[in-house]
Amino acid sequence: MKALVLAGGSGTRLRPFSYSMPKQLIPIANTPVLVHVLRAVRDLGVTKVGVVVGDRGPEIEAVLGDGSRLGLRITYLHQDAPRGLAHTVSIARDFLGEDDFVMYLGDNMLPDGVTGIAAEFAAHRPAAQVVVYKVPDPRSFGVAELGPDGEVLRLVEKPREPRSDLALVGVYFFTPAIHAAVDAIEPSERGELEITDAVQWLVSSGADVRASQYGGYWKDTGTVEDVLACNRHLLDGLTGHVEGHVDAGSVLVGEVVVEAGARVLRSRIEGPAIIGAGTVVERSRVGPHTSLGRGCRVTGSRLEGSIALDEVSVTGVRDLRDSLIGRAASVGTTGRGADHHRLVVGDHARVEVVA
Ligand code: DAU
Repeated sequence: MKALVLAGGSGTRLRPFSYSMPKQLIPIANTPVLVHVLRAVRDLGVTKVGVVVGDRGPEIEAVLGDGSRLGLRITYLHQDAPRGLAHTVSIARDFLGEDDFVMYLGDNMLPDGVTGIAAEFAAHRPAAQVVVYKVPDPRSFGVAELGPDGEVLRLVEKPREPRSDLALVGVYFFTPAIHAAVDAIEPSERGELEITDAVQWLVSSGADVRASQYGGYWKDTGTVEDVLACNRHLLDGLTGHVEGHVDAGSVLVGEVVVEAGARVLRSRIEGPAIIGAGTVVERSRVGPHTSLGRGCRVTGSRLEGSIALDEVSVTGVRDLRDSLIGRAASVGTTGRGADHHRLVVGDHARVEVVA
């Protein structure tokens, strides 16, 4: 079996971050989402992976390289524009050949893995096996209707009026039967070749299409809220260790990782929390559920439930919560007794202040 991992797309819901980086490289528990995805693929025993990239391919290649560090062999497949999930299957046609494959969306996090579903697929080898998950409001997902024995009756992409509460998870197992389906479908209303329509085409032509209901944790990290929620979830499984320096005036509570070269000075870190390599936390309170990237500086501040990407600086901020702070951004007080706020904020940023 091969894998097709999707890391193109536009990431409009993750602006402003997606202006400066591919959304699949946003760190969750200090590791890019895409690396989590590739580890999950490796756990299936798959080594040949096609990674679909768009304009931001070079940044993704800089992080993943040829895949050898992850025990994988990566082939990069360039997509000229986000023409839909099924379009990526057609551009991967030569790479996939006549092999079965798992298609894994590069922004989907399933930290409990999908090995059980892969084994089910290998045992029965239906034309396609999709994964579904019960959600309260499935309107922003593909939605599946299943028959009494779990067979797929109908799939609709982002329906206005969903006929079930089963969302399609971004992991699909396919035999080469999917290629005829991809060739047969037309672009949807939003102008994309939808994988949901291709699987529906298989259902309509009488092929065996199965669904497995996922029992683990699943998050599509498409929005800031989803990224923060997923970060909390992963940090809840953290095991603490200290490689950096923690001075005598500091306290670590619970599971805390202090990476190499990081320094914690006169501060309290409440786990679960990660202090990234080379980051300095001074006279501050950090955590719980917070991860700081590399080379950050937090001084005289309190930060909770948040993610700071590399080289962020936070200075003199009393209580910052549930925040996602982009690379090298600085958040702080002027320190000159000013009685007003001053912002230098990029396009589509969001600032919430206490009045
Ligand atoms: O997360 C699950 C959902 O993923 C499913 O329920 C939907 O049925 C499925 O269509 C998909 O919906 P999204 O709207 O969330 O897909 P998104 O545009 O976010 O793309 C998913 C991943 O695929 C993301 O990493 C970007 C990448 N992508 C997307 C498109 C449209 C590509 O590489 N190329 C593309 O053309």
